[in-house]
Amino acid sequence: MKQSARMAELRLPAEQKFAEELTALAQADSGPKPPQWRLSPKSVETYVMGSTKPVGGVTITPKYIGDRALVQVAIATLASDRALMLAGEPGTAKSWLSEHLCAAISGTSLLTVQGTAGTSEEHLKYGWNYALLIAEGPSERALVPSPVLRAMREGRIARVEEITRTSPEVQDALISILSEKQVAIPELNQTVSAEHGFSIIATANTRDRGVNEMSAALKRRFNFVTVPVVDDLDQEIKIVKQREAQLRSDYQVGTPPPDELTKLLVTVFQELRTGASKDGKTKVRTPNGVLSTAEAISVLFNSGILAQSFGNGETGGAELARAMVGALAKEGVDELKVLREYLETVAKSRSGAWKTFYQAARQATTL
Ligand SMILES: Nc1ncnc2c1ncn2[C@@H]1O[C@H](COP(=O)(O)OP(=O)(O)O)[C@@H](O)[C@H]1O
Ligand SMILES: [Mg+2]
Repeated sequence: MKQSARMAELRLPAEQKFAEELTALAQADSGPKPPQWRLSPKSVETYVMGSTKPVGGVTITPKYIGDRALVQVAIATLASDRALMLAGEPGTAKSWLSEHLCAAISGTSLLTVQGTAGTSEEHLKYGWNYALLIAEGPSERALVPSPVLRAMREGRIARVEEITRTSPEVQDALISILSEKQVAIPELNQTVSAEHGFSIIATANTRDRGVNEMSAALKRRFNFVTVPVVDDLDQEIKIVKQREAQLRSDYQVGTPPPDELTKLLVTVFQELRTGASKDGKTKVRTPNGVLSTAEAISVLFNSGILAQSFGNGETGGAELARAMVGALAKEGVDELKVLREYLETVAKSRSGAWKTFYQAARQATTL
């Protein structure tokens, strides 16, 4: 019940949502901690990967479902003098992993800069409260520190999201922050030097085209960890199932999908992604849009809402088909043709839940 009272807020940061787990881990943690870290690297790993044995009576749920070695390298990087770059396709849990790592290591995931074309050096360094600046001239009070500057002062980890979307000037500013671990504030005749514990986790989307390539100098400052697209069926089913259930509990809407349907959905996504049916016998066209794990989670969640709100309460092929069409149509109607072809060449001959799915998806993709 305590849980549902806390759920009133739509999206709590990881450190609040999993506060109980983090506290239990900290209390049980006897391992050596890098300066300023809330937890030892080993406990950070346990927090991210989950644990089969409760810690101090608290179940540690898995956050990232995937390669443990990848998570270990990411954690080790943050304990070193290098910053961490999580690179990969969209929807592979880069931001998710970054948030949980910061929550576990620094106790906050909120020191975040969102990278966009409009990100300026101020967002990485500092700005001013102009009313105060005019009234009193440059002062500590008038200074508005960026999340990165705060992280430097407090010895925490800052996040820079979607770094490839920022301009070369902003990337250059980041190089100087990472190499010198200092930010000069000439207006105050001051230089902020980073405290121990400061680092940066950046995320980069390898699908972003036509945006800024990272310079070699910037790349050198980072240790790259590539977050892979999951190609194992059972593994992706596990992720989709778990995250859909969490969303349902967070939003308090929807209905649990039958396992058969989750499997169907993930199969469709994987077959469209790889361009072949699972048995390798049939080739299919791949859509241009991203059919990520994140997208699969949201399709499944949406079908449950459709079923609960407008159907008979049980999620079936029809709801799934409608939600899936909505996800694919984002990239334009051509994508629907791809699904349509897939339906005829692959889905049509399958039995069970595939039958209703085929019928409904056929109807929904009639152009
Ligand atoms: N391997 C995974 N383990 C746990 N959650 C995952 C995994 N892959 C995708 N997700 C889920 O997908 C959603 C989107 O992930 P996100 O971090 O926003 O992707 P990215 O930043 O890589 O584009 C999150 O809700 C996340 O929980
Ligand atoms: Mg992201």
